[in-house]
Parts: sequence; structure tokens; C-alpha cells
Amino acid sequence: MTERLPWDHERLAVRRGRRSGVTTMVAIHSTALGPAAGGCRMRQYPSLDEAERDVLRLSAAMSAKCAVAGLAIGGAKSVIVLEPGQRLTPAERRAVLLDHAELIESLDGAYLAGPDVGTGPEDMLVLREGTRHVFCLPESAGGIGSSSGPTADGVLAALRAAVTAVFGSADLARRRVVVAGFGAVGRTLALGLAEAGADVIVSDVDPRAREDARWLGYGWAEPGEALAHPADVVVPAAVGGVLAADTPLAAPLVVGPANNQLVSDDVADALAARGVTWVPDYVASAGGVVYTVAREVEGLDHSAAAARVAGIGDVVSRLLSDSAEHGTTPLAEAAALTRRRISGVRPTAG
Ligand code: PHE
Repeated sequence: MTERLPWDHERLAVRRGRRSGVTTMVAIHSTALGPAAGGCRMRQYPSLDEAERDVLRLSAAMSAKCAVAGLAIGGAKSVIVLEPGQRLTPAERRAVLLDHAELIESLDGAYLAGPDVGTGPEDMLVLREGTRHVFCLPESAGGIGSSSGPTADGVLAALRAAVTAVFGSADLARRRVVVAGFGAVGRTLALGLAEAGADVIVSDVDPRAREDARWLGYGWAEPGEALAHPADVVVPAAVGGVLAADTPLAAPLVVGPANNQLVSDDVADALAARGVTWVPDYVASAGGVVYTVAREVEGLDHSAAAARVAGIGDVVSRLLSDSAEHGTTPLAEAAALTRRRISGVRPTAG
């Protein structure tokens, strides 16, 4: 079950927090293009091994995400490893974050943390007490706040480009779209899709989401059946590992923000052979980091940063036309682009 990962990372830092006793990890996959950015994920893991696997895979995906998006930023990720069933009181949460900030600070700016599944701008503010290397502070503290709006905008740009390639028109009116995952990004996406006239069906493992969905006028699919639901587009918007070679799918197009959607890379070939267009997750989900870097590193204003996010649509159009032309998969094209960008950098002398 635990396939070994190729070790091509620069660094894995693991530390048990002195205040909290909770283990946290930072994986720096690559700083070839610049300091390595990546979200800080806080969730329960069945074991430390699982957490390590997750942080290694997610950090490699961040390298590819940043490279394909054209950022001068490397790839990293961090995890705060809660035990099964473990819930934190506010004081414990603060202690864990201060411990994690200490680990981040020890890396001297090689890792730049942002929010991810299980963390948000308020948590970034606590990290900031121990290290400067944090993105997405609340707006009241001078940051851009949550990155989930820009992430959703990037997915919409990717989805429109892919819909154009697959169906011949960017028009979303009456297209049936299943959004599998009704969290921060999934909710924003569902709203954008509904505004564009799509027939939106949502799904989530949390049964409370069902009431919200009904109230907002969306259809509902049971979480186990969401990906197979009859639709034009399926949008994985929760956690990864949801697509295997034989996963039942009714839609001809899959594009969404969940990181590491495929159980392994060869699933991309299997999906293509089944006539399903799969847009690589690390391409579709880049909006958050693209917007954040544009605002907080480059100092661009909102509209200039939003234009960068919209550019994800052009990247997707290009990948899909290249893969059609070369008889490859969009993943193979994205991986080739990643390799060209990462190996294209030469250390500058002096
Ligand atoms: N969580 C974001 C992702 O998975 C990463 C991110 C990093 C967002 C830094 C904002 C800033 O892409």
C-alpha cells in the first residue's frame, strides 16, 4: 500500500513541538526557481508515515504548480500531524502553531508558509509571531487574507478553457457540473458556476453541507457517487487520491482544485484511453499561490494579480492543444514543461 516515493526532495524537517508535543513537518521539494512556497495543512493522519508521504507528495506538486504557472518560486509544503480523533482547544492550537513557526523559522526563509486544508489567515497570524516567512495574513494585519477565492477563480479559468477544448464553446449555460467537495474553494466555485448559468450539483462528506446546498439551490450527490454522477464536468474539490484507472466516471472532463487527485501518475494515461480529459490538478489549482505571490511578493494590485490568475486558462488551452497534437496526456505535457522550467535555471555567478 505504501509505495515508496522517489527521493528528489531537498529537505524534510520533522520536529515534535516543545510546547504542544505535536509533530509537524516541512518538506522542501525544490528551491531551484526560488524560495519554496507551500500551504500548511492541519489534519488527522492515521500514522506519521502517512503524514510524511502526504507532505512529500504535496511539496513535489507545489514545485510543478509554481513552475507551470511561471513563478520564480520553488515548491514546499508543511503538515501539522494530528492523531486520529484528536481535537485541539484554542490554547492547544496556538501552541502547535507557535511550535510550527519555530520549525519554519529554523529554515531561514527557504520555506514560505501559506494556508491550506485545515488552516486559514488567523492561523497565519499566529505563525507570524514566530517567523516572517508567512503569506496570507488577515487583511486587518496587512495580508491578502484567504487564498481560496483566487484559487476558485483560477479553477474557473481552467474549467472554461477545458470546456472550450472539449465541447467547442466556453458557454457554461446549462452545462451540468458536479463539484465534489463543498469547502472554502468548492463553495466559491459552485457560486461562480451557478452565476455563469451552469446546472450545479454539489457533494461533501459532511452531511451538514447538504442543507446549505439545498438552501443555495444546488443539486446534491452522495459523496460516494459524486464522481460517477452524470454530468458534463466533474470538479474534484476536496482531498486527493480520488482517481484510479477504473474509477467510474460519467463526465468526459475532470478539472478541479484538489491536490494529488490521481492515486498514481499512470492514471492519467488510463483516463485518456477512456476518452476522459483530465486537467492536471497542479495546473488548475495554482490560483491561490499565483495571486498571493503577485500581491505579497511582487506588490501588484488586485486587478493585475487577478489577470495573472486568469492566465491559468491560457496555460490549460496550451496544454490541451499540445497533448492533442503530440498524442500525449495533458499531465505528460505539464510534466515536460515543469522539467524544462526547473532544469532551465542556471545558477548565476557572483
Ligand atoms: N494551499 C495552496 C496550494 O495548495 C498553497 C499556497 C501557498 C497558497 C502560499 C497561498 C500561498 O496551492
